[in-house]
Amino acid sequence: MISVLFVCLGNICRSPMAEAVFRHELMARGLEDVIKVDSAGTGDWHLGKVPHEGTRGLLDRHGISYEGMRARQVRLDDYDDYDYIVCMDTNNERDVRQMLGSRCDGHDKVFKFMDLLPERKTADVPDPYYTGNFEEVYELVSQGCARLLEKIAEQLQEAEPARS
Ligand code: 4NP
Repeated sequence: MISVLFVCLGNICRSPMAEAVFRHELMARGLEDVIKVDSAGTGDWHLGKVPHEGTRGLLDRHGISYEGMRARQVRLDDYDDYDYIVCMDTNNERDVRQMLGSRCDGHDKVFKFMDLLPERKTADVPDPYYTGNFEEVYELVSQGCARLLEKIAEQLQEAEPARS
């Protein structure tokens, strides 16, 4: 099982959107039992809450489920429990590294979402909590999630080459 954790600040706008979009792609490919996905926030203001209405509205428009999703905070065990810890912006990455401490030293499992889309030349996924622009985030999130899935699929193939 390969595991992915998306991280933002409040865990109500960007990272739940990425979690829902990524899971939707996994289900479309029948990979939901092979790759696990979750999301978390560096902050604790919204613990237990459903995604922001802007994220819910966007996911509804795109026919993507967010059933059962509730905000939670990043915890120390996440470092051992996830293979990819994908941070939506520069501050989120800094805060995750600070929270996880020396565990992160010398490993590259913690990285920024926009590192998946280097051609965009943008460091951060803009925060729609402040901008109100959820569609802009969806465009980046859907492209980045597709890229991450390609990357993981390549790794799975390397680990277990086709037997035909
Ligand atoms: P998110 O957006 O990190 O994408 O979930 C935010 C949600 C809540 C807050 C800030 C950003 N807040 O300050 O409560």
